[in-house]
Amino acid sequence: MFVSDCLGVNEKGHLTISGCDTVELAKEYGTALYVMSEDKIRDTCRRYKSSFDKYYDGHGAPIYASKAFSCKEICRIVTSEGLELEVVSGGELYTALAAGVDAKRIHFQGNNKSVQELEYAIESGVGDLVVDNISELRRIEKIAERKGVVVSISMRIKPGIDAHTHEFIRTGQIDSKFGFALETGEAFEAVREAVLSEQVDLIGLHCHIGSQIFDKSPFVLAAQVMLKFYHQIYKELGKKLHHLNLGGGFGIKYKNADAAVPYENYMSDVSAAVHASCAEYGLQIPRIYIEPGRSIVGEAGITLYTVGDIKTIPGVRTYVAVDGGMFENPRYALYQSDYTCLIANRASEPAKFRATIAGKCCESGDLIQVGTKIQTPQVGDTLAVLSTGAYNYSMASNYNRNPRPACVMVSEGKSRVVIKGETYVDLIRNDI
Ligand code: LLP
Repeated sequence: MFVSDCLGVNEKGHLTISGCDTVELAKEYGTALYVMSEDKIRDTCRRYKSSFDKYYDGHGAPIYASKAFSCKEICRIVTSEGLELEVVSGGELYTALAAGVDAKRIHFQGNNKSVQELEYAIESGVGDLVVDNISELRRIEKIAERKGVVVSISMRIKPGIDAHTHEFIRTGQIDSKFGFALETGEAFEAVREAVLSEQVDLIGLHCHIGSQIFDKSPFVLAAQVMLKFYHQIYKELGKKLHHLNLGGGFGIKYKNADAAVPYENYMSDVSAAVHASCAEYGLQIPRIYIEPGRSIVGEAGITLYTVGDIKTIPGVRTYVAVDGGMFENPRYALYQSDYTCLIANRASEPAKFRATIAGKCCESGDLIQVGTKIQTPQVGDTLAVLSTGAYNYSMASNYNRNPRPACVMVSEGKSRVVIKGETYVDLIRNDI
C-alpha cells in the first residue's frame, strides 16, 4: 500500500513508521520533523551486503554515499552493517571521523577538493582518495611529497554512458564536470601519469553514471566499458588495478508507480558481466564497489508537518500550508520531484482531495508537491511526506532564517533524537 515497507496504519488510522505512531511523534518532538527508520536502513544495508556474498563471493562491498544523509548516527549505523563510506567534502569527512569510522574505509570523492581538504584527507589516512582531474592529481603528489607519504588513489572516469536518456547512450556524459573522459584519451594519459608517479598508488577506478536509475543495463554497460579500459591499462602500462567502483544511482519509490528494481538484481547482472569481461581479457577479478546513497536512506525517511492553513483559490487550486518548505526539502523547488503526501492522522481514509502542499518561505515556488491527492485536510492535521530520507536534511538550508528541523530515528516502536533541531541561537552563532 505504501511506498516503503517500514510504513503502516494502526488501529487509530494513524500512519506508523517502524511501529511508531507518527501523530504521537509529531506531538512529542514537534514539527517539522524528519523521521528515519533504523530498521529499514539496516535491512537495506544487509540486502546490498548479502548480494555481494551471493553473487560475487563477497569480493567487494557497498559504500554508503553520505551526501544523501550525513550525520554521525547514520555513519555508525551503515558502517556497523559492514558498508564503507563515501564523503565529498571536508565536512562529510569530519562527520564520519567524529562518528569513529575507520579512515581506511572512507572513499573521498569530489570534483574540486581544496588543498586544505586534500591535506586533511591525507593526514587522516583516508583509504581511497578519488582523483577527479589532472590538477588535483598534481596537487596530491605535491602534498604527498611534502609529507613523505604515498597516497592510495583511484580515479574518476567518465565512461561515456548517460543513463538518463530514454535509450541510454555511450557519449552522453562527455560534457559532465566530473572525472576524466575516456573517449578523448584524457583518462588514459592521466592513468599513465599516476602509474609513473612515486607519490601515489593507483588502486582502482571509479565511475558514476547517474541517479534514480531503474534500469540495470547501464550498470552492466559501465562495467564492460571500464574493464575494457582495465585491459588497455594492463596491456600498455603493465598495471593491474585491484578495485572497480561502479558508483551509485539505484532508484527508489517516491510514488507507488515507481518501478524500483530489487537491489540484489543489480549485483547479479553486474557480477555476470564482470566475470565475462575478465575472462575475455584475461584479467583478475577486481574487488567491486557500488556506491548507493538514495537507496540506503530514501525510503526509510519521512517528514512530518502540521497543517497551518488551507487556502482555496476558486477555479485555480487549494494550497495546504505546512510548517516546513524548501528550506528543509528543496527537491520540488529544484527538480519538481515526485512525493507521496498524506494526512497521517487519517491515513486509512481515501485520498481524494487535490492539494498543493506549500511551505512557509517567502517565495511562490516554495512548494513540496503540486496537485497531489491527499485525505481531506483540516487545520492542525499532521501531514506526512514519504521517501524523504535522502537529499532532504543534507540539502536543507536556513533560508528565511528558518532553523533546520530535528531528526528522529525509530526502531521497533522506539524513537530517539539523532540530530537536534536548530534553535534561533544556532542561527546567529556566527554572526558578528
Ligand atoms: N557516488 C557518486 C560519485 C555520486 O555523485 C553520487 C550522487 C552517488 C554515489 C550516490 O548516488 P545515489 O545512489 O544517491 O543516487 N541531489 C540530487 C541527487 C544528486 C546525486 C549526486 N551524486 C537529488 O536530490 O535527487
